[in-house]
Formats: sequence, C-alpha cells, structure tokens
Amino acid sequence: MFETFYGLSQTPFSRDIPTSQLYESVLLEETLGRLEYAAERRWFAVVTGDCGTGKTTTIRRYAHTLNPSKFKVLYLSDSKLTPRHFYKGLLEQLGFESKFYRGDAKRQLHREIELMRGIQHLLPVVVVDEAHLLDREMLEEVRFLLNMKMDAESPMALILVGQSELWDRLQLQAYAAIRQRIDLQCKLTHFDRSEAEAYIQRHLTYAGATQDIFSEAALDDIYRFSSGAARLINKVCTHCLMYGSQNGHRIIDDRMVKRVIEGELS
Ligand SMILES: Nc1ncnc2c1ncn2[C@@H]1O[C@H](COP(=O)(O)OP(=O)(O)O)[C@@H](O)[C@H]1O
Ligand SMILES: [Mg+2]
Repeated sequence: MFETFYGLSQTPFSRDIPTSQLYESVLLEETLGRLEYAAERRWFAVVTGDCGTGKTTTIRRYAHTLNPSKFKVLYLSDSKLTPRHFYKGLLEQLGFESKFYRGDAKRQLHREIELMRGIQHLLPVVVVDEAHLLDREMLEEVRFLLNMKMDAESPMALILVGQSELWDRLQLQAYAAIRQRIDLQCKLTHFDRSEAEAYIQRHLTYAGATQDIFSEAALDDIYRFSSGAARLINKVCTHCLMYGSQNGHRIIDDRMVKRVIEGELS
C-alpha cells in the first residue's frame, strides 16, 4: 500500500474525502453561496459542468452546509429514473412507502411535502443528479414538482445537476417551458494550473503528508494530462503514488508521471 510508504494516515485522491476536508476553490464557495440562496428562495437551479469537475462533491458539501432545522435535502441520482421511481425515491427519503400507481404516488408526495412544511416547517430541497441522462418526459415530470399547488410560490427548491450537454439541451425549443422556469444557473469549470496544485496539496494534507511528494514539473504534467478535471487528477496521482511506492521513490518527478500516463492511462 502506498499510504504506508509515504507515511499517510488516510488515502488521498479518493471519492470519499470528507466534505469538511475539500479543496475550497473560489468557484466552490461561490456556487455553495448561490445554491444556499436558491434554497432560501425556493428557486429552480441548474448546475452543469464537464464530467469529473466536482458537481456531485459540491452537492455533498451543500447537503452538509444547509441548516437541517430549515431544509430537508432529497437527493436522487439514477440514470434510469422513471416518474414512478422518482416519486418512490423521494417518498422513501421522507420515510414513506410509496403508493403503487404513479398518480397516487405523486399526490402522496405532494401531501407529505405540505405536511412537512406545515408541521415541521421544513423546506424540501430536491436535487436530481446525472440529470443529463433524463429524457424529456422525465425532465418535465421533475419540473411539475414546482407547480404542485396553484400557489404563486414554489413549494420547494429544485436543483438539476448534470454534464454540460444538459445545458445545451435546455436551449432547444422543445425545452422552452423548462428553461423559462430556471432561476439560477451555475457552471463548474476545470481547475487552472495553480488551482490544480492547491487541489493536490489539499488531498495530501488531508491524507497526513508532511512533505512534498510531487515535483513542480510532475505537477505540470499532471495538470496537462488531466486538463484540471478533479477526477482525472485523482486518477493520475493515485497511479503515480502506486508506481512510486513500488519503485521506492519518495519524490515523484515528471519522468515518472510520463511513464505512468503512457504505460497505464493512455
Ligand atoms: N473541491 C474538491 N475537493 C476535494 N476533492 C474534490 C473536489 N471536487 C471534486 N473532488 C474529487 O473529484 C472526484 C470527482 O468529483 P465529482 O464530484 O464526482 O465530479 P462530477 O460529479 O462532476 O462528475 C471526487 O470523487 C472527489 O474525490
Ligand atoms: Mg457526479
């Protein structure tokens, strides 16, 4: 295990890094602030970004930062989401067994949300991740949540999270009805070179590293290969740490990074 070799107490570059230990980029802070505002206002928000740029991680952090005495986050991530599974999934997270038929389940959800708001004074924040995979019917169904009652105000905040093509799709005429309801759009971008370095440093600090492991030139190559996408950075760094520990290198330089990329990742 490379952890022992490098004297690490945790595994860096893993997907289950605690949300309190994240690299706090300016964009992450800004996005969290805007989404918090969206929750307060019961807005309909869309978060897009290329794959591996930290969308799901941002939502994990978001769910932890929202005040639990005010908000109830309901999170769905299912590429094969059908309307029936959608209502079932939401009801289950509220602690209820869903009625079988879609129409019944929908009414049941509306009722439970009304009760939750009326009695517990909790506002639902529904997050649908991987939303770029949903078909149009499903996206419309999600949007219907916003007009549950004839109220002027929406009963909940709704956040669609998906890869960049979700935003492109929403620009099509067929999606005009959904698009017009969007109150806020957040785009996550790739890290630049200095952010990528700070990101790597953050993971290493979390893991308990007490000295530098990657040389400056190694960081350049990792950045170039990953184009600043967090998930790819994780992948290269993990492979480099495995390679380095197997070959007894305390410092990982650019030649090693190149070898790892050519040998294992391309
Ligand atoms: N701000 C961050 N701090 C630390 N690690 C992060 C951060 N953002 C992303 N990651 C890491 O990158 C990986 C990929 O991010 P993820 O949120 O799954 O991307 P996406 O949902 O956009 O495809 C995560 O598993 C996590 O390890
Ligand atoms: Mg994701």
